Amino acid sequence: MKWKQQIYDMKAYQPGKPIEEVKREFGLDEVVKLASNENPYGFSPKVKAFLGGDHSNHAIYPDGYAKTLRTAVANHVNVQETQLIFGNGSDDLIAIITRALLYPGVNTVMAAPSFSQYRHNAEIEGAEIKEVPLKDGKHDLLAMLDAIDENTSVVWVCNPNNPTGTIVQDEELQNFLEKVPSEVLVVLDEAYFEYVNSPDFKDTLSYVNQYPNVIILRTFSKAYGLASFRVGYGIAQEEVIAKLDPVRAPFNNTILSQKVAIAALEDQEFIIECKESNENGKKQYEEFCVRHGLNFYPSQTNFILFEVKADSDVVFKEMMQRGFIIRSGNALGVPGYIRVTIGTEEQNAKFLSLLEEVLSEQGVLA
Ligand SMILES: Cc1ncc(COP(=O)(O)O)c(C=O)c1O
Repeated sequence: MKWKQQIYDMKAYQPGKPIEEVKREFGLDEVVKLASNENPYGFSPKVKAFLGGDHSNHAIYPDGYAKTLRTAVANHVNVQETQLIFGNGSDDLIAIITRALLYPGVNTVMAAPSFSQYRHNAEIEGAEIKEVPLKDGKHDLLAMLDAIDENTSVVWVCNPNNPTGTIVQDEELQNFLEKVPSEVLVVLDEAYFEYVNSPDFKDTLSYVNQYPNVIILRTFSKAYGLASFRVGYGIAQEEVIAKLDPVRAPFNNTILSQKVAIAALEDQEFIIECKESNENGKKQYEEFCVRHGLNFYPSQTNFILFEVKADSDVVFKEMMQRGFIIRSGNALGVPGYIRVTIGTEEQNAKFLSLLEEVLSEQGVLA
């Protein structure tokens, strides 16, 4: 990998041991932490009242290693704890990867349109950006392979892709990973992993063991419904994690966010239910598109990108005036399309009946 020279021998920040760990290790009933300049008086009773049932001591820093969450996620995905890195959302992990591997003189390869933060972070680091247009709404992995040269440091594969919702076929991905030079890090961003139901999507975890230059990103922001808590994680071989860890801010997940993520992981029934409802909701949009002859991309996510045969900015504004906030394709590099998050059955039905009204006004529907 083309790690930034500065991080070669850098060690991750070593936080003080968590109180509970010291208690356990030395068999003590009480341990006082006077190591990190926290407030010994805790926090205001008003904050306590607000927090209700949560009795954590938020006056002390969270466990920077996120040990309990780490164990829970490691068990859930069946990897070693040392193969995980936690981020303040996967946005944070994208920034960490970029900061560790991109700088002037190297380049990064990504699809277009894809998730905007790959480009955004690469621009900040001053790396050259090589964008490869999607082919039929999907990553063109052969063209991306062609775009890789001796200066390429990171390749981003958003799978499923935002904004199209499409996945890459497993065979294509495997062929791609076989051919990418081993010193190029391949990021498989799987923010929407839990929603995927296509048999063509293989569980990519085996690739982490097979290829030392692969990292998978997942998040608690989407199917787990915890976007505001900001918890994402990366899965890679231990050597990659060890290089990325020093670039991470030492306490990038709060005590509360670590706890809620564990609770969320324990309720897989909820994920199954949400996935089922999402599938039904997706059908509402697909039927609408088929009925009105509007193109749509086959989505494996909880959003759908479809054609409106009108100015997407106009449709966006008209829908906002009717109480629905969506994304205009113009802002996503797909003019003439809109991206809509799949809501509840009721929300979808209302949205689609109002959209019918707007598209009729725009002369799209007879
Ligand atoms: C493809 C993709 N990756 C990463 C993210 C960032 O998610 P978060 O930082 O909330 O984990 C998003 C959010 O929309 C996304 O669509």
